[in-house]
Amino acid sequence: MTQHKACDIIIFGGHGDLALRKLMPALYHLCLDGYLSGDTRIISVSRDEVSHEQHIDLIANKLKINLKEKDFDETFFNSFKENLHYVKINLTDTSTYQGLASLLQEHPERERINYLSTAPSLYGIICKSLHDYDLITGISRVVLEKPIGRDLISSRVINEEVAKYFDESAIFRIDHYLGKDTVQNIMALRFSNMLFAPIWNAQYIDHVQITVAESVGLEGRWAYYNDYGAMRDMIQNHLMQLLCLITMEPPCSLDGNSVRDEKLKVIRSLRTIEGDDLAIKTVRGQYGAGAIDKKAVLGFLEEEGGNANSHTETFAALRVDIDNWRWNNVPFYLRTGKRMSRRYSEIVIDFKGIPHSIFPNRGSCIESNKLVIRLQPDESISMFIMNKVPGLTDGMRLQKVKLDLNIPKNAPRSPDAYEHLLLDVVRNNPTLFMRRDEVEAAWIWADKILNGWEEQGVKNKNYPAGTDGPASAVAMIERDGRSWYDE
Ligand code: BG6
Repeated sequence: MTQHKACDIIIFGGHGDLALRKLMPALYHLCLDGYLSGDTRIISVSRDEVSHEQHIDLIANKLKINLKEKDFDETFFNSFKENLHYVKINLTDTSTYQGLASLLQEHPERERINYLSTAPSLYGIICKSLHDYDLITGISRVVLEKPIGRDLISSRVINEEVAKYFDESAIFRIDHYLGKDTVQNIMALRFSNMLFAPIWNAQYIDHVQITVAESVGLEGRWAYYNDYGAMRDMIQNHLMQLLCLITMEPPCSLDGNSVRDEKLKVIRSLRTIEGDDLAIKTVRGQYGAGAIDKKAVLGFLEEEGGNANSHTETFAALRVDIDNWRWNNVPFYLRTGKRMSRRYSEIVIDFKGIPHSIFPNRGSCIESNKLVIRLQPDESISMFIMNKVPGLTDGMRLQKVKLDLNIPKNAPRSPDAYEHLLLDVVRNNPTLFMRRDEVEAAWIWADKILNGWEEQGVKNKNYPAGTDGPASAVAMIERDGRSWYDE
């Protein structure tokens, strides 16, 4: 373990939900585990009128809620609180940045990590203010949270604003899915095992399914979500990244540009979905009232802050094709939704059937092999293969068995995605962050679907909360003679 030298980490939006729920616990762990030097300063910026002591109390209380109970260590917190600083700024008023400037100028030699955990509309003014106060040094970086825009045009505006002040190499665009251990393990599985390499293509793979299902609703984020919906909130970024890791060519190394070049090629090879294909290859849905874990829950339109006329989709399912040599004619079925029956993220690689069966009944009992990668919760990797039913059976009888390729249970604590990503920013490693061309290419593809839905007036199909989405999503995959995997 290498400890990074002291740096200044400035969290804009420091009292916001993400900062308190994810960033602060991640920084706490990085300090506790010795990855960050004891002199590192974590400077929270917000417009709240609070004293230093009130800020420390707030952080302590939130850590107690957001860290797993056994992780909060009162003794350690007494030293961690020395790392914490607070500055009040009205982010839209450039004249209020002086307090931050004075604090940062105490250590002009330090690397500065500016984490913009705010609405993207503020990215421009924050970067400009940092520049006006001469706070952007050659070793400053900026971290941008998604969403980077809600379409290509707005994402370009945001990217342009930030690019006036930071070089692309200093911009770290977060997609927290890339920080998940299980997601990074996709690269390990593919590129450190010879076993899968020869069969990872259209010759052996029939199709792939990627599901990211959530049982939660909007949890107080109705206004934000209503502007974005499942396509912009999840598919354009998180599911797109999973698709890229599953399908990209082997990069020549793990360095930032090699991996991102390969992902970009995948995104550019995605077949556009437009015209009549929208009805065949896409489903959008919105949840109505239903029940989760036997408790009644409201529909999307009735949730707190909701607007009864919203047409935002809370579910999307797509059939995606990748027009390149490796994936010719292999469909990728993607689906994600809120208020589904349970929370799970899973990738299923469904291999082709055998070409000829020597077994009784023409092998009708032979199921295709499947590799199932469960990302969360209860991460696991399983392979389904056919096996002889043991013993003296009447003829050779076969059964499907599950091979577990699981991580031993005594593995060390799995760090949260933000721990991994924050440490990578500190270490200036951009591999797991999205490059501008990648984000924009993803928008070009997603915009076609979003605009098509708008132009054709494609309506949401209703699904009751607590189910697996609208029946049309089942029909979409069944039309191709396949079905959603359900263990
Ligand atoms: C966020 C989305 O990026 O990812 C949320 O904005 C979603 O709507 C969340 O709930 C899912 O993340 P995870 O890590 O819980 O799967």
